[in-house]
Amino acid sequence: MADDLQDANEDEAVESSEALIAVHWREEGYYPPPPGFAAQANASDPAILEQFTEDKFPECFRAYADLLTWYKPWDTTLDTSTAPFWKWFVGGELNASYNCVDRHLETQPNKAALIFVPELEDEADVAVTYRELYARVNEFAALLRDFAGLKTGDRVTLHMPMVPELPVAMLACARLGIIHSQVFAGFSGTAAGHRIADSGSSVLITMDGYYRGGALLDHKVKADEAVEAAGKEGQTVDKVLVFRRYPDKYSSKTPMVDGRDFFVDELLTDYKDQLVEPLSMPATAPLFLMYTSGTTGRPKGCQHSTGGYLSYVAGTSKYYQDIHPNDTYWCMADIGWITGHSYIVYGPLALGTTTVIFEGVPNYPDAGRPWRIARRLGVNIFHTSPTSIRMLRKVGPDEPAKYDYDFKTMTTVGEPIEPEVWRWYYESVGKGKAAITDTWWLTETGGFLGSTLPGLQPMKPGSCGPGVLGVYPVIYDEDSNEVPKGSGKAGNICIRNPWPGIFQTIWGQPERFVNTYYAKYNKNPESKDWHDWPFLCGDGAVEAADGYFRILGRIDDVINVAGHRLGTKELESAALTVDEVAEAAAVPVIDDIRGRVVEMYVSLKPGFTASPAVEEKVRNAIEKDIGKIARPKNIWIVPDMPKTRSGKIMRRVIAATSNFADTGDITTLANPEVVEGIRQQVQSAKVAKGEAPRELSEAELAELKAFGSES
Ligand code: WTA
Repeated sequence: MADDLQDANEDEAVESSEALIAVHWREEGYYPPPPGFAAQANASDPAILEQFTEDKFPECFRAYADLLTWYKPWDTTLDTSTAPFWKWFVGGELNASYNCVDRHLETQPNKAALIFVPELEDEADVAVTYRELYARVNEFAALLRDFAGLKTGDRVTLHMPMVPELPVAMLACARLGIIHSQVFAGFSGTAAGHRIADSGSSVLITMDGYYRGGALLDHKVKADEAVEAAGKEGQTVDKVLVFRRYPDKYSSKTPMVDGRDFFVDELLTDYKDQLVEPLSMPATAPLFLMYTSGTTGRPKGCQHSTGGYLSYVAGTSKYYQDIHPNDTYWCMADIGWITGHSYIVYGPLALGTTTVIFEGVPNYPDAGRPWRIARRLGVNIFHTSPTSIRMLRKVGPDEPAKYDYDFKTMTTVGEPIEPEVWRWYYESVGKGKAAITDTWWLTETGGFLGSTLPGLQPMKPGSCGPGVLGVYPVIYDEDSNEVPKGSGKAGNICIRNPWPGIFQTIWGQPERFVNTYYAKYNKNPESKDWHDWPFLCGDGAVEAADGYFRILGRIDDVINVAGHRLGTKELESAALTVDEVAEAAAVPVIDDIRGRVVEMYVSLKPGFTASPAVEEKVRNAIEKDIGKIARPKNIWIVPDMPKTRSGKIMRRVIAATSNFADTGDITTLANPEVVEGIRQQVQSAKVAKGEAPRELSEAELAELKAFGSES
């Protein structure tokens, strides 16, 4: 046993020092803010940078909170007495629904709050004015309270596609202090079921169907799977509220369950014109949960606060998205992810702008679709992910030039963006006139951590920029030494201070919260001083001499597929539900469109032989447990996994194999002889399928070498 531990420690020491190898690349040149942009920008005076320096922390964040309407002002801006469970704006009271809806009625009742763009191009857009949004939020809140019996502090799971009913439902919950937990519609019913159980929801809000890639998908079927999966974990769902894509017409083939399933449009006739007073909620009351993947175990329910979160997304929307009330803002992310919560719903609506909700995929029916939408609606702020940019660049590089839309600023989020992709975004999509903000952040952080202020700070392709206003990042090595900027060395990026958007805890797992995000660099567990609690973001990063950060990717065995975090453990446990499978390991493969894709390695129990049928079972298991987004590109059934003497699967070795990279030193393995056989099996099959990769960059090679060091 002692020997095993010794071995395990040695493995870790080797791997973590590899994670910190120097990463060299060409320094990119700066692009200044576009002429004319700065003059109209919300952040146009460099004095704003001075207002957020560390000596003014935490009071600097008053400027963000002051963007909201409070029922009761706060007494304490930042309360650190229960470190590291930070409390912002303590004593203050407000309502998120009031701030995103009611307060805009006075000034702009007839302006569009939401514009829904259906995927089918011949279906008309639906503009929902602030007045209409107010009516719909109130009626649905009345239904939640009086029909569903929900009250403040209850959790409700939403499994909704990209339709206006989703923000309506979120804001109706917020009106009553009900904690919403929206699960990405692309996730499977089983995945929704786990989240229902974890959050203790007794009501599920869903939809019959929605369009994706030209097909009307049956979504209600997932509700039945979700209720069943939750039931297996002891959580009963009493009511399933089903919105209909077309009211009066059921678009799903899945039967409604009597006494459990209800059509929302039918129920709403009883609540017509009802008003529900927004409740005065403490700033520290939870607003919502958003589940995300991590190193171990089940996805974690990140609990976000009302006052701190809403202040933070309003402030960052104002200064980094440069949202003015008269803008038409389109974020092409899905509301099922944190980006959509913060920068489709809460931030833009708190500022009273018009936010576009697009149902479909960007390249349906062709790669000109986003630009047609932008032109027709007069979108002037555009926000998307590197995966979408890469895809649109590949399938329609010349499309943007055909449409005379006019963007003033554009955002990229979710993954590192390659400089040449950045340049296409800048030149072709932005036509050389729009500022780009490369915004780096996490589900846990509520809003941006690293970015440039578009009117004040120059852009640098491939780098997100410096820490945002009031956020002070630092890079540490494994021994808690600061990695100096300009050293060219990578390390673990942390945020030294709390900020209002930080999540409050992992739902039901406060210890996991402290261990995952703070234990590594905490200087004193008893301390009530925030300086002792750097927040571990979970990304590797390098800081250039100018203080700009280049984010390299996750350090915790999370695979970022098209900007979506997938935990290797979740993928592996799904594969292990297949009877024949003895062991499973998930690894990332570098992909020119989706950033990373997943490949699975499995070994079978004695007596079973490899076959396409087993592969298919593994693929189906992953789709059932997680969803289609997690579908592995390849499943390799291997005779044995490369392992350390302590029995740990060396994911780094198989990740290298899948990417045609050097497997590094394998002499410490218990079974080094298996490596060559796996290499021949996998690489010859990949060559035959035309999947041999391009030459990888040093940063990509470094990521692969570091992969697997956490488990
Ligand atoms: C990655 C998404 C490089 C990063 C808001 C982070 C990025 C993870 C960027 C969080 C960016 C996000 N450049 N990498 N601009 N933005 N990431 O929780 O690895 O879905 O840890 O939040 O995405 O993903 P999440």
